[in-house]
Amino acid sequence: MEKHYAVIGDPIEHSLSPGMHNAGYLALGIDAAYQRFQVEPSHLAEAVEGLCALGFSGWNVTLPHKETIIPFLDTLTPEAQRAGAVNTVKIHEGQRIGHNTDGDGFVRSVHGDLNGFKGKRAVLLGAGGAAKGIALALAAQGMHVHILNRTPEKATALVELVKKWGGMATSGEFAPGDWMEAVDLLVQTTSVGLRGEHFPFSMQGISDRALVVDIIFNPSETVFLQDAKKQGCRTLNGLGMLLYQGAYAWEFWLGGQAPIEAMQRGLKEQL
Ligand code: ATR
Repeated sequence: MEKHYAVIGDPIEHSLSPGMHNAGYLALGIDAAYQRFQVEPSHLAEAVEGLCALGFSGWNVTLPHKETIIPFLDTLTPEAQRAGAVNTVKIHEGQRIGHNTDGDGFVRSVHGDLNGFKGKRAVLLGAGGAAKGIALALAAQGMHVHILNRTPEKATALVELVKKWGGMATSGEFAPGDWMEAVDLLVQTTSVGLRGEHFPFSMQGISDRALVVDIIFNPSETVFLQDAKKQGCRTLNGLGMLLYQGAYAWEFWLGGQAPIEAMQRGLKEQL
């Protein structure tokens, strides 16, 4: 019997997840279909009931519902509890299980280029929802996480959260500084660059050993990444994070190994 999956969010029309997952089903001959639905915040409860009533096997959750969906679920996995946010829901024996694959998806996307996490230094620019999942996942891998945010109170709150889960974290001024010489992994998690804007400060002085990631994937190379490249750093955009969070969601729903190459082709064909 055909299985049904979806992504819910608002806005949702630009989501690349349906193309990515459907390409994977096609590649493995799985009888399933993945759709996208725009769900306004005031209709979230009804949308969850509706998806359950229609027999959906699971769905992804994106902005602005990742935290507000939690009261409508039955249980959370440790990953979702740690992030305080859900990006994947599975219906299992009538139970609504909330899971989060964003952090581990990010970790997997940098794994090959970073060559180990333990004892290395990550610097995060931003302290919003995306930064939170990434900070917790990197700290869980044994990295020291240094958080810089325009609004410093949000950086210190995220440091406390990382420490609460047993990780190592510090915060600092949202500006160039000594961190630039010691950083192994620099992650740009703010929305700056989505519309072609310059980042508030230059990457001049950054160690060329650093791997620099911008979680934005459209545009495929932000001004921030161009700047980092000019300093001699290796760079990655957010497409890898999108791919691997999707692959982990797939594996959570269907078991086995997600068809990474087919999903990656499905993503790239849309860009
Ligand atoms: P998301 O869930 O996508 O991370 P968010 O929770 O709204 O979105 O977080 C947005 C992040 O981008 C925040 O860290 C925000 O900084 P503030 O906490 O100071 O608001 C950051 N951000 C957005 N616009 C910015 C700008 N022009 N300069 C610096 N930081 C910016």
